[in-house]
Parts: sequence; C-alpha cells; structure tokens
Amino acid sequence: MAKLLVLHGPNLNLLGTREPEIYGATTLAEIDADLAARASAAGHEIDAFQSNAEHELVDRIQRARSDGTAFIVINPGAFTHTSVAVLDALQAADLPVIEVHLSNIFRRESFRHHSYVSLAARGGIFGLGPHGYELALEALANLIEAESSEGAR
Ligand code: DQA
Repeated sequence: MAKLLVLHGPNLNLLGTREPEIYGATTLAEIDADLAARASAAGHEIDAFQSNAEHELVDRIQRARSDGTAFIVINPGAFTHTSVAVLDALQAADLPVIEVHLSNIFRRESFRHHSYVSLAARGGIFGLGPHGYELALEALANLIEAESSEGAR
C-alpha cells in the first residue's frame, strides 16, 4: 500500500463551472472521488488537497517529506508557469511527481508553454481532461510495482 498526495492549484476549486469549454464539466469533488475509489481498489491511499494560495501548497508539499507520502500527482494550475517556490518544495521533497493539466497547455497562450514544475516531474499528462488523473494513477501504480519488485530483488 502506498500513500499518494494529489495536489490541485489555484482556481481548480471552480472546475465544473470555470470556462467549461476549456476545462470541461467535471467538478473537483468528482475528480477526487474517482481517484480515491480507484486508489483504494488498487490498495492505495489518497490525500487530496486544493489551495488557491502558493504558500499552502508549499506547506503541504513540505509535510509530504515526513507524513509517509510516497508519490505526488500535481496540477499546479497557474503556479505551473510562475512558481519557483512550488518547484523548490517538490525538489526538496524528492518524491516521484506526475504533473497533470486538464487542457493542452501547448495549444494555448505562450505563457502557458513553460512549466517550472516539470523540472521536478517524472512525467506529465496534458490535454486529456479528467482522464489525465486516471492515467497519472495508472502510471504511479506501475512505478510502485516496478519499485517494489526492484526492492524484492
Ligand atoms: C491548467 C493549465 C494552467 O495554465 C491554468 O492556469 C490552470 C489549469 C490545466 O489543468 O489545464 O489553472 O493547469
């Protein structure tokens, strides 16, 4: 069993009603409930956290260093493109990170094309809507399996 931390950045609390032509109709509560169900079916535990405040995300990532978190899935929202502080916290945590974006950030304004967070990520998924979170979970399940079979060797 592994403990996964799912982090959602600013404005993602508005999913469902925020620019649905870009972000779709699924709410954050629906995304989190779906992830929790899939994780528990696979024998893992999920803690999901959303904040509009950069320092709260940094604080939560710092706590992940000592609360048993094994993996992080993060959609940093706009902090993707601006936050060296979130990047630094992820690098300090030194845990496997998967970055998710609902929209295809490369088909949008050029300021969305750069991600600080990607420097700390094992991999990323963008443009696939809420399905991206399911894929992130699948990727983590593979990582967990690969790491535990390496440990068993
Ligand atoms: C986003 C993309 C970001 O550019 C934007 O600021 C968001 C959401 C996405 O999921 O597509 O808030 O991270």
